[in-house]
Amino acid sequence: MIEYKDGVFGLHGEEISCLLRVNAYGLLELLHFGEKVRTEDAEAFTLRQGIGWGEAVLLQEGNTESCPDAMALAWSGAGRGDYRESPLELGGIPTDFRYESHEILTGVVPMESTLPQAQGEAETLRVTMTQAGLTLELYFTLFDDVLSRRAVLKNVGETPVTVTKMMSSLMDLYGEYEMSTFDGGWIAEVRKHTLPVSESRIVNESTTGFSSHRHNPGFLLSEPEATEDSGRVYGFNIIYSGDHYAAAQRSLQGLTRVVQGISPANFCKVLNSGETLETPEAVMAFSTDGFHGMSRKMHKFINIHVIPAYWQGRERPVLFNSWEGCMFDFNHNRLLRLAKDAKDLGCELFVLDDGWFGERNDDTAGLGDYTVNRKKLPHGLEGLAKKVRAMGMQFGLWFEPEAVNINSELYRKHPDWALTDEFAPLLSRHELLLDLRKEEVRDYIVWNVGKLLDEAGITYVKWDMNRHSTALGTKAHDYILGLYDVLGRIFHPRPHVLLESCSSGGNRFDLGMLCYGPQIWCSDNTDPIERQVIQENLSYLYPQSTFGAHVSAAPHAQTLRNTPLCTRGNVSFFGCLGYELDLGQLLKLEKEEIRGQVAFYKQYRRVFQFGEFRRLKNGWQVSNGETALAAVFRGLLHAAPGYEVLRLKGLDREKCYHFSTFARKLRIGQFGSLVKHVAPVNLNPNGLILRAADRHITMPDGAQECRAGGAALMAGIRLLPLFRGTGYDENQRTLTDFGSELFIIEEDKSCENN
Ligand code: GLA
Repeated sequence: MIEYKDGVFGLHGEEISCLLRVNAYGLLELLHFGEKVRTEDAEAFTLRQGIGWGEAVLLQEGNTESCPDAMALAWSGAGRGDYRESPLELGGIPTDFRYESHEILTGVVPMESTLPQAQGEAETLRVTMTQAGLTLELYFTLFDDVLSRRAVLKNVGETPVTVTKMMSSLMDLYGEYEMSTFDGGWIAEVRKHTLPVSESRIVNESTTGFSSHRHNPGFLLSEPEATEDSGRVYGFNIIYSGDHYAAAQRSLQGLTRVVQGISPANFCKVLNSGETLETPEAVMAFSTDGFHGMSRKMHKFINIHVIPAYWQGRERPVLFNSWEGCMFDFNHNRLLRLAKDAKDLGCELFVLDDGWFGERNDDTAGLGDYTVNRKKLPHGLEGLAKKVRAMGMQFGLWFEPEAVNINSELYRKHPDWALTDEFAPLLSRHELLLDLRKEEVRDYIVWNVGKLLDEAGITYVKWDMNRHSTALGTKAHDYILGLYDVLGRIFHPRPHVLLESCSSGGNRFDLGMLCYGPQIWCSDNTDPIERQVIQENLSYLYPQSTFGAHVSAAPHAQTLRNTPLCTRGNVSFFGCLGYELDLGQLLKLEKEEIRGQVAFYKQYRRVFQFGEFRRLKNGWQVSNGETALAAVFRGLLHAAPGYEVLRLKGLDREKCYHFSTFARKLRIGQFGSLVKHVAPVNLNPNGLILRAADRHITMPDGAQECRAGGAALMAGIRLLPLFRGTGYDENQRTLTDFGSELFIIEEDKSCENN
């Protein structure tokens, strides 16, 4: 609900409030953003400047309450006495916007450009501010418990103005905070770093032309004493896939200024008379229930207001992807063999990755061309897709439409379509980007991709983009506007096509891309131990339904780490499950295990994909009120382990639950020369007998089953003993390094009646 009472704007969600006021000088003050409060209580949030601080520049001579530098604001000027970071820079011209009018509107106010924005039930406050020749509209949109902000600048005067920086949001928050950012690179995405916010500015910025894996646009501000389940935590993000910027800095007065927007690096936009510049939408969530409380709100927001309506709450298929198993080395028959195996394991969607077009036999050629490689696929995509569908699976395809290889038909014909500058082109992964600012380039992509989707009945697209841009500032922004135009024209008329975006893994994991497709490939790093970090850190700001999560081969391609298949499955369950390995190389017992994983995942898919996600001490939990699934992950084991307790979260204290283990099998070979623990024989670990036995014989690992009340399960259930070097026992958990366990907790109505 948004109301205007006694000069105060009250924006009230289910559990949050934002109070704003136009002060005596026409500046927009931020009285409060956080806990739910009443609009009438605005006075309680009024900061008093008293007799002021030394050196204050005053808006009204003699009035010590009029120092803009000490005000808690929701927008600010430059060169007018507020020396903190300014949200708007006009190439050296001061900015001093003052309140003109406001409107409270139902719903979302549509963007004028191609920028995507959150949709659905909402209310919007539009505050219009002016300075000579310019109008600035500030939009505050409230979706349940998430506030979004954006700004629109209009040149209503005669003289052109040059915009060198324009933020979407500025918030002066009272309090002491730590800022967590999520940084990294290829196969090393979303590593969490936390710094205290102090008087030096902390900047989270991307300048690669894209949101980037270097610095995910999402970040957190938390009070130092906040924990997973308690304390004040803010989550911030922006619905944008290009260069982003966010900064936090504390003032002498104890206000933390948080700005978010497009990166100002090399940004320079001339607004002629009548022209407009609009920013992407910044979003922010808040909770007093710690990191989990904030994540819960962000997850709900993304699942309901960001991802395309068609995919909201819609279960995602278990897929098989050809990349890690085949790379560029495949043909029609090999793909069909893989498809048959994938179907047999329970997969529902077969995805053909890179290498199906042009002269694409490695990554040096073919990008930009859409002609099917008939040497590999003599029956074309239609022929392959038809066979796959006849097996009872959907067919999906990889594209990298934004890029071009110099060795391609397209580049030979249209070298001018590449995004270049006056210097020699700089290649990355042997490719250039196409100039999506050009209409004919956008038309080429829209027409070719659309045609293939329709002709081959494709229901899934992996939209990849494998390089950084060299376009700077405004040019990079215009590219992104072009990209959004292309995505909208391809996918809006085909809402049923599941779009999974990808950029060398998680190089463009952002809310902008999620407006067009509901999931993103998190990382090319599928080692489950690495994925625990990647998926857990993504979970702060993105729901697990947005994670493409695949089981791949071990030893892993990027870490050479050997991990149990069970752990690879258990990690990938907490996302949109897929398999990406050469199924032809699997042992029969591995196939059986995968068949079991897929069946299990399908049974609980709704909970895994859309249940409430929780970060536990050494694992994760998802729950939907009736069912909870909890995984416990291990790193390196220690000898002589003590008792272990699993503390579940968020169950109903009064309800009774059935607690059980998702059964695991042990491979006999994992015992090596200690096979005498299991069998009364002495076998050579390198001998044929044990090697053969390892391929065929498995043993059950300890599985637990009991009934218990929700309160007891949250107090901590005592788990079965762990292997202690004294022998194998069916009632013991014989886990290895990097092992993991998964528990199923289901409401048991029968025991409640007893
Ligand atoms: C990128 C993607 C991979 C795969 C390859 C194909 O690296 O992240 O998943 O699609 O491209 O070239």
